[in-house]
Amino acid sequence: MVEFALPRNSKFNKNGKDGRIYKAPAGAKKVRKVKVYRWNPEDLNEKGEPKNPRLDTYEIDMDNCGPMVLDALIKIKNEVDSSLTFRRSCREGICGSCAMNIDGTNTLACIKDCGDIKGDINVYPLPHMPVVKDLVPDLNNFYAQYESVQPWLKTDSAAPASSERLQSPEDRDKLDGLYECILCACCSASCPSYWWNSDKYLGPAVLLQAYRWIIDSRDEATGSRLDELEDPFKLYRCHTIMNCANTCPKGLNPGKAIAEIKKLIVERKG
Ligand code: SF4
Ligand code: SF4
Ligand code: FES
Repeated sequence: MVEFALPRNSKFNKNGKDGRIYKAPAGAKKVRKVKVYRWNPEDLNEKGEPKNPRLDTYEIDMDNCGPMVLDALIKIKNEVDSSLTFRRSCREGICGSCAMNIDGTNTLACIKDCGDIKGDINVYPLPHMPVVKDLVPDLNNFYAQYESVQPWLKTDSAAPASSERLQSPEDRDKLDGLYECILCACCSASCPSYWWNSDKYLGPAVLLQAYRWIIDSRDEATGSRLDELEDPFKLYRCHTIMNCANTCPKGLNPGKAIAEIKKLIVERKG
């Protein structure tokens, strides 16, 4: 029987003695509880090993906080607990840095409205990825996989002397639904096939990016790009479960892009 191993640092005491509670300031009227996964590799137990993660509870006065989950996390870091660690940059859904699991769904903290969450606001790192610290996942494997699909325009022919490499409006339209990907990794971290085979399966985000170059009319490496992907693991671990499309905060459909790559591989055989 296949045995699945959960990643390191995924066991923790939900309401264990380690979880800390930070009370709202006196007089706060509109209080929400934000429960945040905490893990610090430098926080060691008596055997000198990293302690298990804990879930800290922060009571936030929403009358003095911006509306988004990222606003609440920034408020916690600035005013309550500076040790809380997370990534963010643009705060407007463009950079992909603040991807995390909020209220059970992978999404971007900066565009997730606290008002859309019922009850406590539960915040965890993207699932099934090693954790660097708190809400920061280790994306090294993800980026190495992205690099492996050579995400740039590849050409053999000389560029036109007096203009850019042009594209018809119809060919440009084929990039819609692909170029908008911000590489946040929400989709890959929601894909069961990627959870269990992320060492060999490229996952929805990287395959969507691969398709973005395959379908670009200016690219001249379509054949070798498809050769690279025609592999039982890199591409064919996708079983069209479609978690990826359901979770993408930009409304993209990586599962469809993967199906298009499979179709191109079949068509070129015929
Ligand atoms: S397809 Fe969507 S969820 Fe996946 S990396 Fe791109 S933007 Fe993020
Ligand atoms: S459609 Fe494919 S890539 Fe998307 S979640 Fe399912 S198995 Fe993963
Ligand atoms: S901070 Fe850039 S996407 Fe959220």
